[in-house]
Amino acid sequence: MKRIAVYPGSFDPITFGHLDVIKRSACLVDELVVGVLVNQSKTPLFSANERVNMIQVATQNLSNVRVEEFSGLSVEFAKKCGAHLIVRGLRAITDFEYELQMAQTNRVIDPEIDTIFLTTSLKYAYLSSTTVREVASYGGDISHFIPEELIGTVTERVMERSPLKLNK
Ligand code: PNS
Repeated sequence: MKRIAVYPGSFDPITFGHLDVIKRSACLVDELVVGVLVNQSKTPLFSANERVNMIQVATQNLSNVRVEEFSGLSVEFAKKCGAHLIVRGLRAITDFEYELQMAQTNRVIDPEIDTIFLTTSLKYAYLSSTTVREVASYGGDISHFIPEELIGTVTERVMERSPLKLNK
């Protein structure tokens, strides 16, 4: 039987930390489906479709990874993909409480789906999409945080949204 996992998240935008989790979890399964959540309460910087495209660019050399958008519950998305595993990254203890609660909730909803956690590589332990958006909004160098091919897209969008920060 094919071992399929989903890696759900916001990815607004994808960072080297996410990519680290994608690459490592893709080695553990036959197929990894990265799920980009559509229906968030907050307005994302990028539409789900844009986020999917950016992740596709960043993962183009990973043959067993595909990217899809989804709305609704992660467990429903996992079931739809034929996956029994949900992958999440853990950066620090501060992530743990939220992640534990989510994993336990997901198991109550569907006991057949397990969550596995990968601890993010140390060199990306500080990194989040919020950090990327914040640094970019002040015109800072984001090349340490996201793939080179995405820098222009992210910088441009952040500047459209918050052009004033640079002038302060
Ligand atoms: O990248 P994020 O924002 O930390 O990802 C959070 C995500 C998308 C995994 C989580 O919010 C989620 O699974 N949302 C879908 C609704 C759901 O299934 N919630 C879990 C039960 S509390």
